[in-house]
Amino acid sequence: MDLKEQIDLSRLPKHIAIIMDGNGRWAKKQGKLRIFGHQNGVLPVRETVETGAELGVKCMTFYAFSTENWNRPKVEVDALMSLLVTTINKEIKTLQENKIRLKAIGDLKSLPAKSQVELQKAIDATSSNQGMTMVLALSYGSRWEILEAAKAMAVQYKNNQINLDDFTESSFNASLDTYDLPEPELLIRTSGEQRISNFLLWQLAYAELYFTDVLWPDFRKNDLYKAIIDFQKRERRFGKTSEQLQDL
Ligand code: FPP
Repeated sequence: MDLKEQIDLSRLPKHIAIIMDGNGRWAKKQGKLRIFGHQNGVLPVRETVETGAELGVKCMTFYAFSTENWNRPKVEVDALMSLLVTTINKEIKTLQENKIRLKAIGDLKSLPAKSQVELQKAIDATSSNQGMTMVLALSYGSRWEILEAAKAMAVQYKNNQINLDDFTESSFNASLDTYDLPEPELLIRTSGEQRISNFLLWQLAYAELYFTDVLWPDFRKNDLYKAIIDFQKRERRFGKTSEQLQDL
């Protein structure tokens, strides 16, 4: 049976978060510069989004640039920023055709002005699309996001807009960049590394983690299918016992 047929479409993860890792190593293996790996990381993003949308996944988040990535050599940071701008520009049409809404999370104000403008254009152009939501995490760090949410709530508290009792999981959720997204149920990280790397720390609380040795530029639709099949084999207990789940 082919992989796609093994997927139960009624039990898809609503939100898949992806740490796209291994671009640099992929390029190095071929004696090329790291940016060649990033350039070849665009195709798998497109294929993954199209495949996810086709299956009926509601949301996919891609970790494209972390707060820590600013520490990389300037030439790599510049090349990544311009790759993002050109890719977003080129892909608007595909996003529209597939009714995909684009959203970005992270410290977007720290991006170069041109990247901010192009990103906003694509976000505005696709804002009323009702299909899948594609989220780009850009200049994103989860600790940064959590601190921003905590600060925003502290300001509301100081201004007597909320009480201490209003500090709840759901109000905190509503203060995060991901306030309008379902919780990620599946996290995929490529390249064999098994870390979360400051990605969606709050949101991933109950997510299933899936690690594959495939380097991001080699990630294709079958790799996504494999991750979803693996997800569907797991028993998600949310702190309950197996027996309690069977009784539901
Ligand atoms: C991690 O690989 C990858 C990144 C830091 C950048 C990801 C960016 C893309 C795939 C470009 C296109 C994306 C979009 C959304 C347009 P790494 O460089 O850390 O690899 P390494 O661990 O092998 O060094």
